[in-house]
Amino acid sequence: MSRPLGSKVTQDSIISGQIVTYHGDPFTLPAEQAVTAQKSAILIKNGLIAQIAPLSTLRRTAPHATVHDHGDALISPGFIDAHAHYPQTGIIASWGKRLIDWLNTYTFPEEQRFADTAYAREIANLYLDFLLSHGTTTVASFCTIHPESVDALFKAAQTRGMRIVAGKTCMDRDTAPQGLRDTAQTAYDQSKALLNKWHGKGRATYAITPRFSPTSTPEQLEALGALWAENPSCLMQTHLSEQTDEIAWVKSFYPNARDYLDTYETYGLIGKGALFGHAIHLEPREIARLQDTGSSLIHCPTSNTFIGSGLFNMAARKADGLRVGLATDTGGGSSFSMLRTMAASYEIGQLTGTALHPAQLLWLATKGSAEALHMGAQIGSIAVGMEADLTVIDLASTPEIAQRSARAQTIWESVFPTIMMGDDRAISKTYVMGIPVA
Ligand code: GUN
Ligand code: ZN
Repeated sequence: MSRPLGSKVTQDSIISGQIVTYHGDPFTLPAEQAVTAQKSAILIKNGLIAQIAPLSTLRRTAPHATVHDHGDALISPGFIDAHAHYPQTGIIASWGKRLIDWLNTYTFPEEQRFADTAYAREIANLYLDFLLSHGTTTVASFCTIHPESVDALFKAAQTRGMRIVAGKTCMDRDTAPQGLRDTAQTAYDQSKALLNKWHGKGRATYAITPRFSPTSTPEQLEALGALWAENPSCLMQTHLSEQTDEIAWVKSFYPNARDYLDTYETYGLIGKGALFGHAIHLEPREIARLQDTGSSLIHCPTSNTFIGSGLFNMAARKADGLRVGLATDTGGGSSFSMLRTMAASYEIGQLTGTALHPAQLLWLATKGSAEALHMGAQIGSIAVGMEADLTVIDLASTPEIAQRSARAQTIWESVFPTIMMGDDRAISKTYVMGIPVA
């Protein structure tokens, strides 16, 4: 499945189908002007998009290129899952708990198993294969407290040529079990060693990763804020305002904080490159600070319904001008599929008063997530110079979907049944840097 490490020169290839093109943000422009899909083809040289033109033109331009003709299938930028926990692969779909009980009952016991490096490697490889078969080419994932769990994921991504964001999940408070605790100093030291090892190596980006305020002391948040200030090209990922019980818990640990976001802000854990997962129950001051600092919000719709967290108001947050990415939050989220995640986002949109357009949903899962991760110049859209991470979507992958899309009058009417009812069967091919990998 993988190409040799570090290899740059590959056979030119051409991929044809209905190519998705972005002309702007579909939350700012009319959605069908901002996003179009037309029969065309992509010439790929050395993993990058070199030209976009009709197939007949590219066959003449590059007569030796390998041609992958996907007919009327949709060629989308590879999906970008902007917040997930690969160590929770084995406990996805665990029943009956809300956030804090869910962490204690299912998550923390499973994460302790990652002290075993062989287990970490096994799950990292399994997880990335699941992602590729679901059309996801980039993920921003939490790891566990164990540095080896971080090495395992970066290595598995490197083997597959994938662009990846990951970091050691730091926790030093006794709200986490003994086996999952570090200290302010070891969190700093181990995160620093890992970022020096991986950040900027090939397609890897390091994210400094305090799990969330209730499992970190102020000293640990301060140490990680200092590490980020010393390494500003890293990202910083954490959780914010997911459940109301959690917000009350945060207040009990940080009685002087103005609100939940302030527990991060006080220690420099806010700004361009900060990724706040969930961010459902925000105060006006928090929204204003997120806007002022250029921080990103990551919407995790299947998780927010599965763990019973609440309804993120996408239309309102986009109208606030915030960067918003889309994510599975596996395994609090109930699926590895970004199609399923788009469907859940649509349903939450309905419950909050806005029917999100299929073009908006597709944009969120690709360009929206790329911009939230500050990677919009490399991934998330199909344009000359971009990395050729592509997902080929069959718009008639099951008889149930096919009978509905057969009636479609427009491309979006044909795409929407796959968003709502599709799964990995709809992903007919996934390309990483132009190479078919699943
Ligand atoms: N908050 C802190 N840790 C977690 C986690 O692992 N999953 C979710 N959904 N929320 C969290
Ligand atoms: Zn999470």
